[in-house]
Amino acid sequence: MKKRIFSGIRPTGSIHIGNYLGALKNWTELQNKYDSIFCIVDLHALTTPTTAKNLQEKIFDLAAVYLSVGLDPKKCLFFVQSHVPAHAELTWLLNTIAKIPELERMIQFKEKSKERRSNVNAGLLDYPVLMAADILLYQTDAVPVGEDQKQHVEIARTLAKRFNKNYGRTFNVPQVIIKKESARIMALDNPEKKMSKSASSPYNYIALTDSSDAIREKIKRAVTDSGTEIKYSPARPAIANLMNIYHCFSGLTFEKIEQKYQGKGYADFKSDLAELIIAELKPIRRKIKELKNNPAQIKKILDQGAKDARIIAQKTLQEVKKKMGLI
Ligand code: AMP
Ligand code: TRP
Repeated sequence: MKKRIFSGIRPTGSIHIGNYLGALKNWTELQNKYDSIFCIVDLHALTTPTTAKNLQEKIFDLAAVYLSVGLDPKKCLFFVQSHVPAHAELTWLLNTIAKIPELERMIQFKEKSKERRSNVNAGLLDYPVLMAADILLYQTDAVPVGEDQKQHVEIARTLAKRFNKNYGRTFNVPQVIIKKESARIMALDNPEKKMSKSASSPYNYIALTDSSDAIREKIKRAVTDSGTEIKYSPARPAIANLMNIYHCFSGLTFEKIEQKYQGKGYADFKSDLAELIIAELKPIRRKIKELKNNPAQIKKILDQGAKDARIIAQKTLQEVKKKMGLI
C-alpha cells in the first residue's frame, strides 16, 4: 500500500515562490508516489483577522493555484478544512492532552504574539493543535512542508505519541519531509527573513500571479551583498538566496551557476534569473486566470474532495471518541 502524505496552505495573502518551491512544487512530484491529501486550511487562516468576503475569495484563489501548479484531483485528494467538521472536533479532543508551555514555546506563536501584542487571540496559541488534528485524522505517514513548519509537525508527533500512550494505539506518528534547498526561501528585500505572504512590502516576495514586468522589477530591486561576484557563500546571504532560487528554477548546481557568470556582474545574473522565473510562472499564471473564470469547476472539485475526506476523517474521529469514552 502507498504511504500517505498530508499538507496544507493557509488561504491568506499572496501565494509566492517560497510557498511554490517550499511546498507546492514538491507536492506535484509527491502526488505520483504517495497517497496524497492537500488541504486549504481556512480555519487556520481565521487566526489572521480578515473579512468574510476576502477569505471566500482567497479560498477560491488558493484552489485555483493548487490546480494550476499541477495538482491533479485524479491523483490526489484536496479539500477545504472547514468542510470537514472532524478537524475542529479533533482539535478540541487533542487540546485536552496538549500542554500550554509546549504551545507557548512555538517560534511562530512567539513571533506572531510579538507582532500583535495586545491582540493575541487564543487561536494563535492553539494553531499547532489544529494542525496536529489535520495531520492525525488521516493517519498520515509524512508531512511535506517548508522548514518553518518543522516544529509544528514535531508537536503533532508529540500529541500522537501521548494519545497512543494514554489511550492505546490510535494514531500513526508522522514524519516530516523537508526538501533541503527549497525549505527556506528568503525575502528579496531582506535575506535575513523568510519570504512571507503577510509582508507589508510587495518587494519582499514574488507572487505566482505577478506580471512578467513586476517579476523583472522585483528581481532588479532585490538586495545584494557588497562585492560583484556571483559566488555562493553563506556569509553573503542575499546572493546566496538569489542563487538558491536560480538553482530551484533551473536545476543548475551552484558551481555551474558560478561558472556561467564568471566575469559577469549582478545585472546579467539578475536579468537571467527573472526570465527563468517568468518562464515557469507564466503558464501557471494563465491557468489561474482561466480557472478563476470557472468557479463552478472549482466548487465541484472541492465538494468531491470534502466528501472523500469526511469518510477517512470520520473513521479516525470515531475511534478517538471511543477510546476517550465519548460513545
Ligand atoms: P503558509 O504560507 O504559512 O501557509 O505556508 C504554506 C507552506 O509554504 C508551508 O509548507 C510552509 O512551510 C511553506 N513556506 C512558506 N514560506 C516559505 C518560504 N519562505 N520558503 C519555503 N517554504 C515556505
Ligand atoms: N501551518 C501550516 C503553515 O502555516 C499550514 C498547515 C495547516 C499545515 N495544517 C497543516 C501544513 C497540516 C501541513 C500539514 O504553513
